[in-house]
Amino acid sequence: MNFYRHYLFPYVLDWAMQQPVLKAPRQRVLARAQGRVLEIGFGTGVNLAYYPDQVRELETLDPESLLAKRVSRRIAQSGRKVHFHQLAGESLPFADNSFDTLVCTLTLCSVQDPQQVLGEVYRVLKPGGRLLLLEHGASPDPKVQRWQHRLNGVQQACGGGCQLIRPTKELVAASGLVFEQVSQYYLPKVPRFLGFMTEGCACKPLG
Ligand SMILES: C[S@@+](CC[C@H](N)C(=O)[O-])C[C@H]1O[C@@H](n2cnc3c(N)ncnc32)[C@H](O)[C@@H]1O
Repeated sequence: MNFYRHYLFPYVLDWAMQQPVLKAPRQRVLARAQGRVLEIGFGTGVNLAYYPDQVRELETLDPESLLAKRVSRRIAQSGRKVHFHQLAGESLPFADNSFDTLVCTLTLCSVQDPQQVLGEVYRVLKPGGRLLLLEHGASPDPKVQRWQHRLNGVQQACGGGCQLIRPTKELVAASGLVFEQVSQYYLPKVPRFLGFMTEGCACKPLG
């Protein structure tokens, strides 16, 4: 399993993250990025191609440094300055109220403790700042949910710890962030247990 996780999984992840079905959702979500930006769960840097032109510089964070050469090429191609921190999102090395935009795409499924990560997101966002979100998670359909529970262990083993059963929208709402816009839908041509998405943006209230 170690061989898979360390040598094969990064390529599987990079391939999965580049699937065309994710392109339009990434474009919609990241179009709102502005000001000082932090991306949690940078992965292989697939989002770099989708930030608006005015985002010239960003902080990024991930406990894994994946496919370093490929990611360096991607950073160079993006023309953006990327400050990468090899750290988990549960404890952010940034001051309170210091970012305009936090980005989390397909990451809350994989972190150890989503409540703690969202607590940190809340802390480092400026009042009025936004979390931009694109996540898969627990379906509201009991039949789909049963399959998600059955397959969760397999998904965790094959997907680098990724879980199928996180109630993303509820977790974000419980963090104190307030949704400005949110939609939930199944990705087309993706099995329903894997493709129930929460897409949107949530704001840290002003004062
Ligand atoms: C499915 S990938 C998504 C990558 C990227 N966000 C994207 O949309 O292409 C999930 C990422 O979350 C990272 N991750 C896992 N645990 C984490 C944690 N505790 N804090 C931050 N990132 C974490 C993984 O290393 C992986 O790169």
